[in-house]
Amino acid sequence: MGKPDYELINPASGTRSALPVRSGTIGPDCLDIAGITRDQGVFTFDPAFSVTASCESKITYIDGDAGVLLYRGYPVEQLAASSSFMEVAFLLINGELPGAAELTAFRTSITRHSMINESLLRFTNGFHHNAHPMSMVSAVVASMAAFYYDSMDIYSPRHREIFSHRIIAKLPTIAAAAHKHALGQPFIYPRNDLDYCSNMLSMFFAVPCEEYQVDPVAAKALDLLFILHADHEQNASTTTVRLAGSTGTNPYAAISAGVSALWGPAHGGANEAVLNMLEEIGKAENIPKYLALVKDKGSHSKLMGFGHRVYKNFDPRAKIIREACHRLLAKLGQQDDPLFELALRLEEIALKDEYFVSRKLYPNVDFYSGLIYSALKIPRSMFTVMFAIARTVGWVAHWLEMIGDPAMRIARPRQLYTGPTQRDYVAVAQRR
Ligand code: ACO
Repeated sequence: MGKPDYELINPASGTRSALPVRSGTIGPDCLDIAGITRDQGVFTFDPAFSVTASCESKITYIDGDAGVLLYRGYPVEQLAASSSFMEVAFLLINGELPGAAELTAFRTSITRHSMINESLLRFTNGFHHNAHPMSMVSAVVASMAAFYYDSMDIYSPRHREIFSHRIIAKLPTIAAAAHKHALGQPFIYPRNDLDYCSNMLSMFFAVPCEEYQVDPVAAKALDLLFILHADHEQNASTTTVRLAGSTGTNPYAAISAGVSALWGPAHGGANEAVLNMLEEIGKAENIPKYLALVKDKGSHSKLMGFGHRVYKNFDPRAKIIREACHRLLAKLGQQDDPLFELALRLEEIALKDEYFVSRKLYPNVDFYSGLIYSALKIPRSMFTVMFAIARTVGWVAHWLEMIGDPAMRIARPRQLYTGPTQRDYVAVAQRR
């Protein structure tokens, strides 16, 4: 038997509304509020969607109090230890881990879609040399609708599959093209003999005049970061992709909207901002002064890489990345990296500070990820692009889940209007 409904009673009229309880497989129940407006003539008010489930989803589960993150039921710690980004991509998109033949076919398809149309390359090269790569990537992704319009029927499962493979395959190529453009170096074409992350490193760091050897340590570190960034249920950029996609717009436009939303420093832009912050702090003696600044609401400063809307105990991804950062820096002989030491000290001091303790603010996924990218010689302006490459998998999975749902409707929130009531137009000559 289902759980009993909650009931909402209008204290003035006595009108009653049933609020049916909807239970997921795990996690808190949700109250179905669809009948409130019909019965009571009121809306619900939840700015920033702090307590509202905007959809049903089978992809990712987070328990923010327990620090649990599951992709299709699998703990992220297990996937980080034993899986690969391509396997995780298959899992998120298709719902199950692939068999060996399925994984090979998926990898091959992604590999074979990694080249981009030459005109798209020329478009990339039209940007100013110092354009931020996130602005280039969001524009180039949006422009893909003009290049790959042969397979954009969102109601065709085959078209949706082609789109999915194309966007996952081409994002690293687009990112590398933006990077090479900023450097003024020739574009390096993708190599089909390399795995996803090795190919990315090759496109980023190879030059045509000499042979480039991919460092397997670097490729593995990148693969781990991509696994950890691949999905995170209804975060701001994924919600943006769903909202844009719910209008029936083409999927490239929806993903481009997601890239733009990710760029903000409160979201994916935090990894770049953490390194800027560490440099601004400079040395351990300056930490107390910086913490005083971020506690001052008037300063509009935040401790970047700290805090999360959902995690109120610890971010399991941050735990894994912190350890990975230790291992990688040791392997690369950079264990004395002064910014890493400063980050460790900052974390230690903040975690003992009453302000952060009482607000349950802990390091999030991006507190340490930028230090890994730096160790791999990826420029700071590319950090959020790296995040976008990984999160594209999650965006695609959510877009597919939404489009495949026969009950999909355009997303359209309501508002609490606080502007002027109706008034009459006054001609300009009569206005004060
Ligand atoms: N530094 C200082 N104070 C903070 C921080 C921070 N990093 N994060 C939250 N707070 C404060 C808030 O100002 C608020 O204070 P108050 O109660 O005195 O008004 C209190 O802590 C509670 O904040 P929340 O409601 O938990 O924060 P919210 O859910 O609105 O925002 C966010 C979450 C955006 C991640 C925020 O913590 C933040 O800006 N962090 C820094 C940026 C960052 O690292 N973003 C990456 C997030 S992970 C990701 O998107 C990949």
